[in-house]
Amino acid sequence: MLTLIFATNNQNKVDEIRVVTKGQFNIITLKEAGIDIDIPEPHDTLEANASEKSSVIHQLTRQNVFSEDTGLEVESLNGEPGVKSARYGGEGRDFQANIDKLLKNLEGNKNRKAQFRTVVSLVLNEKEYLFEGICKGHIIEEQRGGKGFGYDPIFIPDGAGKTFAEMTMEEKNSFSHRKKAIAKLTDFLGELN
Ligand code: IMP
Repeated sequence: MLTLIFATNNQNKVDEIRVVTKGQFNIITLKEAGIDIDIPEPHDTLEANASEKSSVIHQLTRQNVFSEDTGLEVESLNGEPGVKSARYGGEGRDFQANIDKLLKNLEGNKNRKAQFRTVVSLVLNEKEYLFEGICKGHIIEEQRGGKGFGYDPIFIPDGAGKTFAEMTMEEKNSFSHRKKAIAKLTDFLGELN
């Protein structure tokens, strides 16, 4: 079975992706690979940050690696917080501070349309491949639900009556940006076999 290192320190992302890939390939986390670094996200696009993460870990390990970078893009804020989603509310990468700032910036705004966009970068046998997944929805005015992470309590995907934070992981995955990007990755890997 193909083994891939998943270049992230976010255990929620690992859990979601392990559910989605259902053992089709062997995913090793950075922790399991004995790598303890804060991977840089210095660029101004999700694509460049995803590439940076996978190439940094590939250079360290020389193994096949994938990474992902995700942003919440709000229409009436010209796509913000976007690539800055993790540090929107300050350098502390605090989920609550990020939510508070976004709700404040949207106060009184009728256009609450938003989308999560995930870019996955795969480095396989020294070549890089990119995959994208988008989930459209809207931002509500007050947070709801205690599951998930990040902006989940304020985002309702189109076609759902509740926030990501009110959903089980399986329900979230039936809508999720990350699931869609990873499905493209698994299809690609399946075609190689
Ligand atoms: P990054 O991809 O780890 O840089 O994440 C960017 C920011 O978006 C972080 O603040 C995450 O919490 C948030 N984020 C990423 N994916 C999700 C998601 O599926 N739901 C809610 N927030 C997310």
